[in-house]
Amino acid sequence: MGLKLGEDLRRLPKALFGVWQLLLSVLLMAVSVTAQTDPCTTNAAVPTEISFSTSECYFAWSQQSFVVRYTDNATVLSMVVSVTHENRWYSIGFNKNSAMVGGNAMVVWVDPTTGKPQIKQYYMSGKDASQVKIDSRIKFTQAPQAYTTADTIYLAFQIDKVASTGVSLDNQLYAYGSKGSFPDSTTNQFQQHQSMTSKLFNYASGTATNTYSDPTTLRRSHGVISIFGWGILLPVGAIVARYCKLWDPAWFYIHVVMQVMGFVLVTVALIMGNSLGDKVQGVDYGAHQGLGIFVFVLATLQMTALLLRPKKDAKVRRYWNFYHHWAGRAALVLAAVNVFLGIEAAKGGKKWNGSYGLILIIELIVIIVLEILSFVNRSGDDEPGLQLGGNFHSNYNNGAPPSYDN
Ligand code: HEM
Ligand SMILES: *[C@@H]1O[C@H](CO)[C@@H](O)[C@H](O)[C@H]1NC(C)=O
Repeated sequence: MGLKLGEDLRRLPKALFGVWQLLLSVLLMAVSVTAQTDPCTTNAAVPTEISFSTSECYFAWSQQSFVVRYTDNATVLSMVVSVTHENRWYSIGFNKNSAMVGGNAMVVWVDPTTGKPQIKQYYMSGKDASQVKIDSRIKFTQAPQAYTTADTIYLAFQIDKVASTGVSLDNQLYAYGSKGSFPDSTTNQFQQHQSMTSKLFNYASGTATNTYSDPTTLRRSHGVISIFGWGILLPVGAIVARYCKLWDPAWFYIHVVMQVMGFVLVTVALIMGNSLGDKVQGVDYGAHQGLGIFVFVLATLQMTALLLRPKKDAKVRRYWNFYHHWAGRAALVLAAVNVFLGIEAAKGGKKWNGSYGLILIIELIVIIVLEILSFVNRSGDDEPGLQLGGNFHSNYNNGAPPSYDN
């Protein structure tokens, strides 16, 4: 025992040395990693060809390799933007808010035929490629310059702040295109970015705040929840109310539960749609929004109608029924139209149109079949032999009128 302990003690310094070495190598690795990921510490990286100097530097878009060096005063903003070059176009833009639309952008790329770097200014009046056009709203003290080194592309320009009226520099937009996709040499048009972001920048303190949040998840959730509420729960609940009265009073409870659940979902979808609207500036969703609010108001009235239902035998019950049934049907038809408008606004394409279209077609087939069955049953009251499927009216034949029918 004693001998073994002694042996262990003798081994201890060696073990400690091992731990120390491990720590040291981790530390060295961390140092070299930060040196690699912070190009601002190596100012020598700026090519001497660029005819002006800058004093500040920040890592503009950390997931990508955009680095911005700048010097700002009351009249001139000098900027050198550099990015690791991978055979695409790169861009920095400016706008008064974080949106693309209404902004001006400097786009840089290496012409694949001449091999020369190109730099051009564009104005973005919309999110369609045809709406991103060559422009000269931003005025410079001298022509913007573009340079490439083995792995980096530089765009350098000095903005004449006084002459560039109407251009706000507070928000910076960043984007880059897909590999091998460049502006056309004659029309100057180019294709949508592969990735983009925007930042609110404070030139005095040199700090950037992210202002772009990807609306994709919110947009999808809004779509799925809307389709589940407006496209499944509410219409199926209505189908139950219209065609399943033979199961009295079960149909009524199923109907109420489905409509209440559906209403909760469409309320959530409306709230999501509202915050989505703030995020997707420049997307034309006006009709979708208007119709969405309208059908929501109808749905709210349907809910209050459930609560304010007159007694079954009250005289006004007939009017209530008429109103509740027709407002409900109108809401469902308009909501279906609105789902398609939403898919259109979000450019959801075939996948979304197809999926929702399929749901709609199944529901329509069910409605048509049930409508025919109930019609045949109604007209076949005198000829029991013609009745198909369930006996829709058997419950009501005992003299009492159908309690919840039209
Ligand atoms: C032909 C060129 C371009 C097309 C077709 C285009 C198209 C689009 C589209 C469709 C969106 C919405 C994407 C979404 O919501 O998921 C968008 C967003 C955005 N774009 Fe572009 N874009 C172009 C060029 C640029 C350039 C040059 C910049 C600036 C450097 C830029 C910056 C942005 C930013 C920051 C966003 C997110 C904020 C917003 O939605 O307004 N885009 N663009
Ligand atoms: C601002 O910077 C530019 C370019 O560096 C310089 O020419 C100009 O004199 C400066 N203006 C002021 C007010 O400091």
